[in-house]
Amino acid sequence: MEIYSFETLDSTNEYLKENYFKYNEYDIISTKIQPKGKGRYGSVWISQEGMALFTFYFKCVKNSQQDYLKIPLVVGMSAVKVLRKYAQLNYKLKWTNDIYLMEKKLGGILVEKKENNMFVGIGLNINNEMPEEVKNIGISLWNTTLKKYDLKRIILTIVGEFKKNYEEILENKGEWLNLVKEINEINYLKNKEITLRIGSDIISGIAGDVDENGQLEIKTEGIIKKISSGEVLKERIILVFNGENINTKKVIHLKKQGYDIVFILFISDGVNQEIIDNFNAISMENMLKSEKIYIKRNDNQQEYIKWLEKKYNAKLFSIDE
Ligand code: BTN
Repeated sequence: MEIYSFETLDSTNEYLKENYFKYNEYDIISTKIQPKGKGRYGSVWISQEGMALFTFYFKCVKNSQQDYLKIPLVVGMSAVKVLRKYAQLNYKLKWTNDIYLMEKKLGGILVEKKENNMFVGIGLNINNEMPEEVKNIGISLWNTTLKKYDLKRIILTIVGEFKKNYEEILENKGEWLNLVKEINEINYLKNKEITLRIGSDIISGIAGDVDENGQLEIKTEGIIKKISSGEVLKERIILVFNGENINTKKVIHLKKQGYDIVFILFISDGVNQEIIDNFNAISMENMLKSEKIYIKRNDNQQEYIKWLEKKYNAKLFSIDE
């Protein structure tokens, strides 16, 4: 396993797909700058210097759809295990391909197949500031710990960890089941109200566990369905309107990103009518679900937030910074 570090490559996935025959399995292509970073479902991965941006490939062992589903999960869990060694934080895995931290995206995984080879591309926000466009929904390790990390070492350790985990699960079903357990311990979507696109179908429901095939369980109209692939389109979040400091643009931006927003205003005596009018206007214009909650001045908002999170199957989302 060698790492080949480039100054700039349009996309490490595209480069390796074109040039893999010059490299060995599990060799790593990494780049500092990546002007045409690719995300999943044709999206753009806005790449910033300081991110870990890398791709490796390996030959497909089996060809079943279910094994294909396991790959991003094993990659994600391997990355989390390594990141925990560098910074002990509460990482989550968002089925199937994302790593989250504090309700924001820390990294994404793009798995592509070409000529019986699997190309695994990973983008992780490590030493970078977040690009302005995604500041509300992304986070970097640097933002969280104010430390800088050795990117090359992190990348090499993640690929080594993946190789070890993947070989173990191919040999031994028990290892895969252990991994599924670990995945469910940090299952970001669990108990959240989500909307998924599966081909041309759209389904909504409450996410459950990842099962022994790597499928996501989702409870919809009282029935538990198992989903083997799909794009999580919408996720419900709770935003609390804080009057003067709120950056209305951010709410609109999050709405555009596809979040299903529950917009909340806490009203205690003496609250300014202008704030209430403003709240009503933003809710109407953006067609947000909204709720006004009347509280006493000294009431603990946290209790209400817990209650709201339960009521709406959603988490509070902070947009203050
Ligand atoms: C996603 O979240 O949609 C997946 C993002 C994957 C980004 C990485 S960065 C390195 C590799 N090269 C690419 O062009 N994409 C992946």
